[in-house]
Amino acid sequence: MNKQIKGGTHQSIEHESAHKHVSGRAEYLDDVIEPAGTLHAYLGLSTCANGKIKSMDLDAVRKAPGVVDVLTKDDIPGENDVSPTGLHDEPIFARGEVHFYGQPLFAVVAKTRDQARRAAQLAKVEYISEAPLLDVKSAKANGAELVTKPLKLKRGDAVSALENAPMRIKGEMEIGGQDHFYLEGHIAMAIPGEDDEVTVFSSTQHPTEIQHMVGHALGVSANAVNVQVRRMGGGFGGKETQGSLFAAVAAIAAKKHGAAVKIRPDRDDDMVATGKRHDFVASYDVGFDEAGKIHAIDAEFAARCGFSADLSGPVTDRALFHADNCYFIPNVELRSQPLKTNTVSNTAFRGFGGPQGMLGGERMIEEIAYALGKDPLEIRRTNFYGGEGKNLTPYHQVVDDSIIERIVDELEASADYKERRDAALEFNKTSRVLKRGISLTPVKFGISFTATWYNQAGALVHVYSDGTIQLNHGGTEMGQGLYTKVAQVVADEFQVDISTIKVTATRTDKVPNTSATAASSGTDLNGMAAADAAQKIKQRLIDFAVKEYDVAPEKVRFDNNQVIVGEQAFSFADFVKTAYMNRVQLSATGFYKTPDIHWDRDAGKGTPFYYFAYGAAVSEVVIDTLTGEYFVERVDVLHDVGRSINEAIDKGQVEGAFVQGMGWLTTEELWWSKDGQLKTHAPSTYKIPVASDRPRQFNVNLVNWSENKKRTIRRSKAVGEPPFMLAISVLEALSMAVASVADYKTCPKLDSPATPERILMAVQRLKGE
Ligand code: MTE
Ligand code: HPA
Ligand code: MOS
Repeated sequence: MNKQIKGGTHQSIEHESAHKHVSGRAEYLDDVIEPAGTLHAYLGLSTCANGKIKSMDLDAVRKAPGVVDVLTKDDIPGENDVSPTGLHDEPIFARGEVHFYGQPLFAVVAKTRDQARRAAQLAKVEYISEAPLLDVKSAKANGAELVTKPLKLKRGDAVSALENAPMRIKGEMEIGGQDHFYLEGHIAMAIPGEDDEVTVFSSTQHPTEIQHMVGHALGVSANAVNVQVRRMGGGFGGKETQGSLFAAVAAIAAKKHGAAVKIRPDRDDDMVATGKRHDFVASYDVGFDEAGKIHAIDAEFAARCGFSADLSGPVTDRALFHADNCYFIPNVELRSQPLKTNTVSNTAFRGFGGPQGMLGGERMIEEIAYALGKDPLEIRRTNFYGGEGKNLTPYHQVVDDSIIERIVDELEASADYKERRDAALEFNKTSRVLKRGISLTPVKFGISFTATWYNQAGALVHVYSDGTIQLNHGGTEMGQGLYTKVAQVVADEFQVDISTIKVTATRTDKVPNTSATAASSGTDLNGMAAADAAQKIKQRLIDFAVKEYDVAPEKVRFDNNQVIVGEQAFSFADFVKTAYMNRVQLSATGFYKTPDIHWDRDAGKGTPFYYFAYGAAVSEVVIDTLTGEYFVERVDVLHDVGRSINEAIDKGQVEGAFVQGMGWLTTEELWWSKDGQLKTHAPSTYKIPVASDRPRQFNVNLVNWSENKKRTIRRSKAVGEPPFMLAISVLEALSMAVASVADYKTCPKLDSPATPERILMAVQRLKGE
């Protein structure tokens, strides 16, 4: 009998650190033992959103108890910049001008963290202020600059198709931003080494970028900087680029003082001084016919990017890439507008602009449905991609793997969508205060970094002579289960129990030139690289067995913790020991790059995505039309992860993403005062979902018949981001409940987040009309 190893692929094993997460023994950066004499840094932040620094008096700061030093731009040995784009638009410390309220001006270095953060408050800074441009609308109205070149996607002739369409609707939607609210905030610790060397511990999704940014700031080359991260307490995109400033400050202070230096902002300062999800204004013009078939779309997606480019280029690009969602648009023109504003520089956040684009696209579907008096699901079905002549995206990639129709059919049946929609319509006829809404929305999400060169990964696998294995790869662990899934791949390759494998911290000196763990591609890329490394070692072991035992290569098998050589069976450990004694190399690097993708941004054409991940959700809500309050009563999800490497972890990702998406669309509202101060900078004013906000019934299922058509690792699909957008069904269900107060005659056009306040105002507006 073929006994299964414990923890191979396609097994629902627990997260490698689950027991440590729940017992408080998982070591986060702040838990790492501090070297003797560790100093603590804290940032001093601007209290002006737009202006020049007239004077900066730091005397009181320097004289405060425990203060060792105050660092300003003049203390930076290398470049005063941590911009990830090469545009040099992101100073570590303000260069004389300030561009947002909360911009770092200086850093205090003190004996304790508390001394540093108290001293930082004592600065006396005078500004020559100008009126700030804070949001999309005022930025557009005042002709604000763009932080990067906008993108245009074009296919067919949208102008004439719009003119000739039987029906046409123009509209606008405001789409809110979101704070990452990772449980572990930003943090870095630097330990100086000899000569120009430094070791940096950072809570980052992108150790290689931290390495380069620290190098630039110190004026040393990349080979002098070693960056390490064992795990993050959540990243969600917020740690793709935003950790650089903290790492650079810690490294500068550490080299200057010959001591370890740690920096960890308070939650408030983390929220004020680091970037968030981009809020957007989507303006659309959609032409369609009586059947609800889309003829043409012309739309613009304008985003609040903040004061610098950061990742706003690729984020706004990805918004355009997802405005079509699952729908074929015969004639289309989509434009991005990455607007420069006097706010913190916005950054990656789960979905990376995709959710904003998709939400705009889904709003157009809703508009059509309400205009025609039809179930939005019918409009969705009418426009699904599929078949010859209906499979080309606005960026000219062919959709050849769509399984959305089958997913939607199955979910519609399993969730009793029709019956429940009828019941809600019936309920709303007689219920005066409470109103119900239900919605089924689909998701199609493109997998690959649109920056094609990022789609590469490396791994390093060591087999020790006692038969145990160390696994290292360029991906970072932020709770998503990457370390577990890649270890499962290696266990499967060697056919050994996963307990044989130790995954070690991600380090730039073990695997170089890595990409950010982002774009949901961690397992796709690092799983393949690790498999490649394992296969090299296996091949050497097979070659050795062939020579040593005089058997054909086909007669050597790795099976259930054993190596079978012809008629003989050795334990993996014994066989490895013998191989070692015979001087077989038991360590290998692995590499992977995604094939078949290319993207020409100037032409707006290409195949930027290796494949698409699909899913759908049905959400049912009930609103109180007197207060605007609501509950999410039931959610049914059917999500495609190909052949799942680990269903338990993948389901966790789907559940977490859904709830995080729900927070984005319902209660999480960012609010800036007129002078540019972020007023929602703590959980007291910024409402993330809590346990009691979860759907009262939450049925999450993975598509059990799906298999990636592309040769991904074990035919799985990426899962990190796509299910975030399933939460759009919540907003649309709320929309239906609101629409009921005016007999579904008008599209309620809810902006997001649909806070209870917004729901109440929409109800009153519709009743008034
Ligand atoms: N899950 C947890 N628990 N914590 C996180 O920070 N980040 C999300 C997603 N799931 C995140 C998460 C984001 S934004 C991405 S891009 C992916 O995980 C990254 O990891 P992966 O590529 O290994 O899926
Ligand atoms: N997704 C996430 N992060 C990224 C991307 C992307 O497409 N491109 C650059 N960083
Ligand atoms: Mo995820 S936004 O790609 O880090």
